[in-house]
Amino acid sequence: MIEGGARLDGAVKICGAKNSVLPVMAAALLAEQPLRVPNAPQLHDVGTMAVLLRELGASVERYADGGVEICAEGPLSDKAPWETVRKMRASICVLGPLLARLGRADVSLPGGCVFGVRPIDVHLKGFEALGAKVRVEHGFIVAEAPKGGLRGAEVFLGTAFGSSVTGTANVLMAAVLARGRTVIHYAACEPEVEDLCRCLVAMGAKIEGIGSPMLVIDGVERLGGATHAVIPDRIEAGTYLSAGAMTGGRVRVTDMRPVHLSAYLDRMREAGLPFECGPDWVETQPQQESSGAHGFPPRPRPTDVTTQTYPGFPTDLQAQWMTQMCFADGVSVINEVIYPDRYMHVAELARLGAQVRRQGTTAIVQGKASLSGAKVMASDLRASAALVLAGLAAQGKTEVYRVYHIDRGYEKIEQRLIALGAKITRAKE
Ligand code: EPU
Repeated sequence: MIEGGARLDGAVKICGAKNSVLPVMAAALLAEQPLRVPNAPQLHDVGTMAVLLRELGASVERYADGGVEICAEGPLSDKAPWETVRKMRASICVLGPLLARLGRADVSLPGGCVFGVRPIDVHLKGFEALGAKVRVEHGFIVAEAPKGGLRGAEVFLGTAFGSSVTGTANVLMAAVLARGRTVIHYAACEPEVEDLCRCLVAMGAKIEGIGSPMLVIDGVERLGGATHAVIPDRIEAGTYLSAGAMTGGRVRVTDMRPVHLSAYLDRMREAGLPFECGPDWVETQPQQESSGAHGFPPRPRPTDVTTQTYPGFPTDLQAQWMTQMCFADGVSVINEVIYPDRYMHVAELARLGAQVRRQGTTAIVQGKASLSGAKVMASDLRASAALVLAGLAAQGKTEVYRVYHIDRGYEKIEQRLIALGAKITRAKE
């Protein structure tokens, strides 16, 4: 429950990246020795991955201050059940490690997603290239390595929409224990994939071309334990910067990597939203003049966005950007190319008075001087974040229902926003 209109002020420290820690936790299945992630965030999805890894036979310890330690000494099970996998698509990341370590994996298909079909064909294509036999049976992906184990190969992992983040992660994790050399062409270049590579190298893997679209992996016999701190969450950072900018406040987002947000910061500049930047922080600058209605900060310039793979504008910040543009002084065009149906927030933003029209993959946002608080329903993680942002900047009270989605990817969001001066409370539904 949010009382809108408070100007945010203060500092917020960014947590370890959700989309790094989930595949990194799955990578622990590749070794008998423990993998420690000291800065694993306290997220619901991390809990789900911990449950899944335990079901597979690993021990997982979660520390009170965040951080996890996983030990997959064995024996391990090769079956990842539907009951857990259905809760989180990133569960698919256990497929590659299980196949590499056990020679067999039986992982439930993750199923549909609220923002559309999310295929996994390139994951399977990659495993097949490494010699595995893959079939779908009773809702499970059954993958079996050939006698003698997986063998290195050249594989192109591009999809019709660009590279695949978890597809690259999965095939990479299978290839590190394969015999010989694997070359992944059109690998995803997202910082989270680079981070996974660094974790695997710390465990003893041999990978060249880290951070580039061509990864060269020389398989090793076994991997060992390691301690790996994951990179800061760039999407969490962008979301708090949006909160600062939308309330005209001074919000310093610390312990982040501005270079991972260069597309987003470019759009902030284009929109005329002032910020300062240091080596590991970005701070939105307060806006003095109150030209908007009811004392709201000056309105941003309308600014178009097309989502792209890294280093382009991330789809995981599209909903938040749309919310910002709902207050712009004119019309912005948003083009969602990665997930054409990732527009669940549009109808809910309309309940606050936003004017957004959708045509295919495009949303046309007619900015307004103000939105008015309302009851809205969250549909998924980033849509929830966008609705909370809208509530912070709208007039009056906004109630976001099904807000549990937000706990999948934002650690203690209401506490952090309260510390910045937001009027927000969490109520039991
Ligand atoms: N695609 C295919 N075939 C495949 C795999 C993907 O056609 O086999 C298509 C998808 O339909 C999509 C595009 O390729 O159009 C990219 O999908 P990708 O595989 O990269 O997505 P993902 O790995 O399932 C990760 C993040 C998502 C994020 C996307 C895009 C994790 C755990 N999840 O998903 O994060 O939106 O990359 O950057 O890393 C979120 O954090 O809210 C979230 C949804």
